Amino acid sequence: MSTALCPGSFDPVTLGHIDIIERSSRHFEQVVVAVIRNPQKTQSLFTLEERQEMLAECTAHLPNLRIEFFKGLLVDFAREHGADAIVKGLRAVSDFDYELQMAQMNQRLSGIDTFFLSTSPNYSFLSSSLVREVARYGGDVTSMVPPVVAQRLKDRFHGEAP
Ligand code: PNS
Repeated sequence: MSTALCPGSFDPVTLGHIDIIERSSRHFEQVVVAVIRNPQKTQSLFTLEERQEMLAECTAHLPNLRIEFFKGLLVDFAREHGADAIVKGLRAVSDFDYELQMAQMNQRLSGIDTFFLSTSPNYSFLSSSLVREVARYGGDVTSMVPPVVAQRLKDRFHGEAP
């Protein structure tokens, strides 16, 4: 059975992520959304549990998908789960150099291939970090993230003071 990993920080999940996840689920028999436990980034906005809850709600319509956490090397996690592929979205040329380097390193380490999906043009400017920044300063992100995420961002940044 072909199994693909869609890895990332998902802090928070955006409509760009959902687009890639949905399309992956049409091409592979099983898809594992692999949420990294130890991102390089210094500060996470949402806890792992919050990120998982949001992902679960937004992907509930996909029967061949599950959400897992991992730490350490992605290829070790892939081997443990019998995954044969990694899927990444490419937004722009600026993504390409780093993604190519990671794909080649992961291939060398494990033999596992990375498949690139072109991001929908609707979402090619989107990133979790920009969404966090816009939401932090009160910008409207409702066209960029699923409704549950928009609500959580609103609560986090503009909820009632304790
Ligand atoms: O959403 P992000 O933060 O862009 O996701 C990056 C991620 C988690 C896919 C990448 O950092 C990763 O694969 N980390 C795991 C550590 C690893 O395997 N490093 C070697 C990559 S060649």
